[in-house]
Amino acid sequence: NTIGVIFDLDGVIVDTAKYHFLAWKNLADDLHIEFTETHNELLKGVSRVRSLEILLNIGNVTLSDDKKQAVLISKNEDYLGYIKKMNADEILPGVKDLLNKLDSRGIKYVLGSASKNAPLILKQVGLLERFEGIVDGNSVSKAKPDPEVFLIGAKKLNLKPESCIVFEDAIAGIEAANKANMISVGIGDEDTLNEADFNFSNLTEIPNNFFEELIKE
Ligand code: G6P
Ligand code: MG
Repeated sequence: NTIGVIFDLDGVIVDTAKYHFLAWKNLADDLHIEFTETHNELLKGVSRVRSLEILLNIGNVTLSDDKKQAVLISKNEDYLGYIKKMNADEILPGVKDLLNKLDSRGIKYVLGSASKNAPLILKQVGLLERFEGIVDGNSVSKAKPDPEVFLIGAKKLNLKPESCIVFEDAIAGIEAANKANMISVGIGDEDTLNEADFNFSNLTEIPNNFFEELIKE
């Protein structure tokens, strides 16, 4: 009766959404697109290419394929400028305690992120070595809400999807976990993530017996 955990990165382990926002905002300003924090919610959990499409849609702007490639590169360079300054202080509350708890109970965990920068970010905050495996934006062909990222994660854990618990802060991620037939845990606003099997406002709220109760089922 083994279980395993799959963690999303941005918004669950670290708060990089603010850096994505700053970088997209810079690009939006260049393109004269009005882009707010509310718009930014739509980009959470979504791949880089798809995020650009959403942004261009918001501004009703069309770009040539070459220009799209160029702005994607400059957005990422901008984002990397913020990432390279990150350190362990930016690990979100409750993360280290939860990982320690999982370690002590012998429950394995992998990363399941849409970000191509995931390994770099985990390295910056000193968590890269702790995961059993990393599934990131470089290893998937279909982005969330497609379940691919989590199904590869289950393979890395050597577990059936039903035995995997996914921690996610994005609507697209909860949808992906549900499609994968996994247990979905929404981290953040309960109303936004109402499709999740469980909801917590952050990782410090997870009850001590949470995993034991799931193993019993
Ligand atoms: C995560 C974030 C998204 C981001 C995506 C791709 O899912 O929530 O906001 O667009 O990763 O990230 P990348 O680092 O590859 O641009
Ligand atoms: Mg996320």
